[in-house]
Amino acid sequence: MNEDLVLVTGGSGFVGAHCIDQLLRAGYRVRTTVRSLKREADVRAMLNVAGSPRLDALSFVAADLSADAGWTEAVQSCRFVLHVASPFPGKAPKHEDELIVPARDGTLRVLRAARAAALSESFSPPPSSLSATVRSRARLPSTSATGPI
Ligand SMILES: NC(=O)c1ccc[n+]([C@@H]2O[C@H](COP(=O)([O-])OP(=O)(O)OC[C@H]3O[C@@H](n4cnc5c(N)ncnc54)[C@H](OP(=O)(O)O)[C@@H]3O)[C@@H](O)[C@H]2O)c1
Repeated sequence: MNEDLVLVTGGSGFVGAHCIDQLLRAGYRVRTTVRSLKREADVRAMLNVAGSPRLDALSFVAADLSADAGWTEAVQSCRFVLHVASPFPGKAPKHEDELIVPARDGTLRVLRAARAAALSESFSPPPSSLSATVRSRARLPSTSATGPI
């Protein structure tokens, strides 16, 4: 049993829900972000159907990748972040920036919040447009596109 608290962004998503399920099975406590807390019941029901254990070890925070609100609270007391929330529409957008801008800016928000909270590690899987891995405060990347994190 590992009692560390892990933040999974985008718990209502395909990858996010799978991450939550695996973390709960491994004994972690999990906090997840959703854009609206109205989704909490849906996510809990989905995990329940999947047979996820320990749903009492799962909590929710509202946070949108396009706004600062919620991210400080989301990373509070977490040891790790799995950042998997990202716009992932079923059909191609009219312009690539409809995906790239929120994905990039949202990832930077998550990384900044994680850095401010001095988390041990943050990980984002390779989405279609970008990926970011932060292993320690000392090795945080910066980006010339939007300035230092
Ligand atoms: N599925 C795959 O096989 C696969 C493989 C490799 C990489 N990936 C990458 O993994 C990421 C997630 O994929 P997925 O299949 O899990 O997609 P998904 O099922 O569509 O889930 C996307 C998640 O991101 C959230 N989200 C979208 N826009 C947001 C925003 N502006 N602010 C906060 N949350 C937002 C969604 O929340 P809502 O419920 O509120 O919309 C949802 O929880 C994507 O970057 C994708 O490219 C996926």
